Amino acid sequence: MSEFYKKIIENNRNWVASKLSEDPEFFLKLKDAQKPPLLWIGCSDSRVPANEIIGTKPGEVFVHRNIANMVIHTDMNMLSVLDYAVNVLKVRHIIVCGHYGCGGVKAAMSNNSVGLIDNWIRHIKDGYRFSKDEIQSISDEEKKFDRLVELNTKQQVLNLAVTSIVQCAWSKGQELSIHGWVYGLDTGLVQDLDVTFSSHEDIRNSSVYKLEFDE
Ligand code: CO
Repeated sequence: MSEFYKKIIENNRNWVASKLSEDPEFFLKLKDAQKPPLLWIGCSDSRVPANEIIGTKPGEVFVHRNIANMVIHTDMNMLSVLDYAVNVLKVRHIIVCGHYGCGGVKAAMSNNSVGLIDNWIRHIKDGYRFSKDEIQSISDEEKKFDRLVELNTKQQVLNLAVTSIVQCAWSKGQELSIHGWVYGLDTGLVQDLDVTFSSHEDIRNSSVYKLEFDE
């Protein structure tokens, strides 16, 4: 076994010991139920650990991560997480967190094939195409990349807002706000992109997506 592999098992034992020394009932309290107020949809990137960067404890965040924090309306994995979070756990907030320096977004800006993942990245390219004029008006390559990270995150927030799951929750009067954030790998800071949606009203500009539900 590699040293790293042995080390992570040992880390786990140390973590348990430290938690128990703070609170002997730490794990017993978590065993029976979870009631997290937040669903986090973030990138799989190893440098953006959801719980850690927002200082949350086990039990406080329900997490879904994929390459480039995408919300794709046919993705059963994401939809299942979303449905469980909204309808069973009744989370109050959903954060879509993109990050600067995202490899998925970088790949979307290039014409190089990176294999199977091209088909996933394709969704980011669709967003790039919608915002082509804005992106191309930026001359600095780094700034172009940063902007696409922000625009991709905003697009995923909108994609989330128009899912049947979120719209149905709002139509029932359930309290649910969805937010877009971007995380800086080099600063550790998150920035709220100010694209919060809290009701049907907030998607009025995308009315073709608006769903009506029977009482
Ligand atoms: Co990423």
